[in-house]
Order: sequence, then C-alpha cells, then structure tokens
Amino acid sequence: MIELDCTNVFEEAIGENGIPSGTIEETIDSSAKLAARLEDNRRAGQLGFADLPFSAEPIKAVESFARERNFAHVLVVGIGGSALGPIAIDAALNSTGTGRHLRVLDNVDPDFIRDTLDQIDPHDVIVNVIAKSGVTAETMATFAVVRRWMIDALGEKEARSRFVVTTDPAKGDLLAIARQEGYPTFEIPENVGGRFSVLSPVGTLPAALLGFDVEKLMEGARLGAKRARRPFRENPALMMAFIQWFLDQHRGKTILTLFPYSRSLWQFSFWYKQLWGESLGKKVDRQGKEVFCGQTPTAALGVTDQHSQLQLFIEGPNDKSFVFWCLKDFKNKLPIDEAFSDYPSMTYFKGRDIARLLGAEREATEIALTEAGRPNITVSVDSLDEESLGELIMFSQYATAYSGELYDVNAFDQPGVDYGKRLTFAMMGREGFDDYASRVEAHRSRNRVVVR
Ligand code: PA5
Repeated sequence: MIELDCTNVFEEAIGENGIPSGTIEETIDSSAKLAARLEDNRRAGQLGFADLPFSAEPIKAVESFARERNFAHVLVVGIGGSALGPIAIDAALNSTGTGRHLRVLDNVDPDFIRDTLDQIDPHDVIVNVIAKSGVTAETMATFAVVRRWMIDALGEKEARSRFVVTTDPAKGDLLAIARQEGYPTFEIPENVGGRFSVLSPVGTLPAALLGFDVEKLMEGARLGAKRARRPFRENPALMMAFIQWFLDQHRGKTILTLFPYSRSLWQFSFWYKQLWGESLGKKVDRQGKEVFCGQTPTAALGVTDQHSQLQLFIEGPNDKSFVFWCLKDFKNKLPIDEAFSDYPSMTYFKGRDIARLLGAEREATEIALTEAGRPNITVSVDSLDEESLGELIMFSQYATAYSGELYDVNAFDQPGVDYGKRLTFAMMGREGFDDYASRVEAHRSRNRVVVR
C-alpha cells in the first residue's frame, strides 16, 4: 500500500520555504468540498480513468486475447499517452522475466525506426497500433512503414493477422483502417484521454501480451481509487495535490522534480511528467482568465543523479519541490563481497548489501535537501509488482485531477499539443488545414537570425 511521508514540506522541517503547520487543518473543509466536486464529476462520467479498473469486461477481453498470442516481441506504435504508459509498465514489471520484449516506436526519427525494426524478427512479433484520436501524424506514418515491413516479410495475409489496434470506439481513420483490414480492435472509452489511458487497453493489452497479471494491476488501481476518495488526511492523492499546489502558488516551487530511487520506476517518472505537465500546464483557467499555471515536471534518478544534478538541487535556486519514489523491499538485496574489506573505502561494507547502500544514499539526499530548506516528500510502496504499480498509477492520476481542481483548470484537454498537431498537418499538405498553412508561411517568411 502506498505511503506518503510529507514531513519535509512543513515549516518545522524546512523553515520559511515550508507550509505553515496549521494549513492542513484550515483546509479540511475546503478540500472536502473539492473532493466532493471531483466525485460529482466522476459520477457525471467526466473522470473516465477512475472507473476503468471497476469495469470487468475490458480486462477479461485483453486477457483472453493475449492468452492466444505468444510472441517474443510486442511492438507498440504510438506516441505520448499512447506509448508512455506501456513503457512505464514494462520497465516497472520487467518483462525479461516473462521472456517477452516490448519495443515502442514513439518517434519518427527514421534511423530509430529502421534500427528498431532491424532488431526484431517479423516472424515473432505482434504489432499494437495505439492512438486515441486515430489520426496522429507520427503514429499513422509509422504504422504505414511497419505494415509494409511486415507484408514484405510475411505476405499480406499473415501480416494482417499480426496487427491489433487500440483506439476510440467511434471515430478516427485508424478505426476505419482496422475495419477495412480486419484487424481486431480494443476501445479507449470516449471519456478517457491519452495521458489518462494507461489502465485502458492502451496499457493493459501490451501488459497482457507481455505476460503480466492485468487483474492484479487493476486490483491495485481499485485500491488507489478507493483511497483517493477518502477524507483529506487519509487521502494520499489529495494530499500530494494540495502540497504541490501550495508550494507552487505560495512558495515559488515552480519545478516538480521526480526522484525515483528505483531503476524500475525511472520510466514511470517519464509517464508522470506527461501526466502532470500536459494536464496542469494551462494558459487559462475555467473562467477564461489567463493564469499560465503548472509546475514544470522534471526527473532525476537516484543514485545516478546524485553525482550529476544534486549539487544544483541543494545549492542552486530554491524553486523546486521533490518527490522521492521508493521501494521498501527490492527483489534482490545483493550482499557486498568482503574480499577487499581491509581497504578503508570498503571496510564499512562488511555484512552490508547493495539494497542497504541505496537506502542510505536516499536518506542522505533527503537530509541534505531538507537541511537546505528544499521541500521533499517520499512516496513508498512495500515492493514493486502489478498491484503496487496499479495503485501508484491511480494515485498519480487522481493527484493530477485534484490539482486541476485546485488550479481551477481543465486537466483533461491539451490545446497547445493540438495546435502543434494542426501545424504539422498543414506543413505536410493535409487538406482542410489552410488557415494553419498561412501561419506556417508567415513564420517562414520572417527574417531569420542564423549564425554560421
Ligand atoms: O494526453 C494526450 O491526449 C496526448 O498527449 C496524446 O496522448 C498524444 O498526443 C497522442 O495522441 P493519440 O493517442 O491520439 O495519438
């Protein structure tokens, strides 16, 4: 079960950079109203992500589909919310243990696509094309390349049997193509947006194909959802949202640094960055007032970044809030061999293991940051498995949704991203985007300042 230790965000721990001790008590009533409002929104069907683990049918469907398909490689073609979730699940649960491998084409760098395909045996792969909108340029183009590669290797009929599509149930070209080609399809419910879709077949289908236990993932997510509906003091997601909002708005902590002390959670922090950044980074609030809000999420890996970014974190500008992600127990402890314990730099390792060293390093970082007046919280789980990952995912999504309420912005749209997509369509000559083409022209006709 998730534990959130927020000792080091209060004034008692970090002085004037912290939250005054009475603030939580003073906020109990208003946060109860905020939680009630979010729950009303959920009941009105506006919080699709929160209901996903309670819906048995889609879970059974991906499990039974995956049971009949045993391929060494699962190749996902998708981007943003249609890629970061599967990547995070795979990295956290470590598919090498299942003998299957995930590859994700989430970039249209042609060398990356070529190199990735060259490393996969087309005879032993299933391709999952994922796009909520069903029209994203990167995904549609990459799909066309991968389809040709598969046909060249396997022939039309066999290639066709290796594709599966995850998309909107009613609209988008990807859905139409899937129907035309006879590909099986899985739905992303209409009220579930890209970055909130990891517990839909976007994440659960690749997870099942990789051999992970989707039911356990959902069990953890259900627990996370139930805990996210509890009163303030027993609700880690609401507490996380409130703390970050307060630190940003009242203490100038405009950067949120995600600091996993687990290599397996490193990709999870990239998934979280999209969730936090794209949901809360907004120009206007719900009243249309310009607010330009949102903490900038960034990531550092413990212990690696102790030897890279930590100096800046401790002594540089005090504009960051830190979130440690921790495991109480690792699968391995890894005792440190005592062969060189006569050397002073190794004597103190006697009887110790690597897991203990990692724990000590994390605590040392926590102390150093706290003494420097840098707010930090620690989110820990007992160990990393399907269940705890499901809870972490749901905790993160709810924390983001609560933050949207606190900032009073729509956490579920992404007008900035959509604008960029339209400009790309215009540049590539897609019909119906002439307005955007003229903006591209205006931009291109400007005098450029170039240094050669
Ligand atoms: O969160 C979002 O909605 C976006 O970041 C999308 O995930 C991203 O743009 C990809 O969109 P799609 O799944 O439609 O290809």
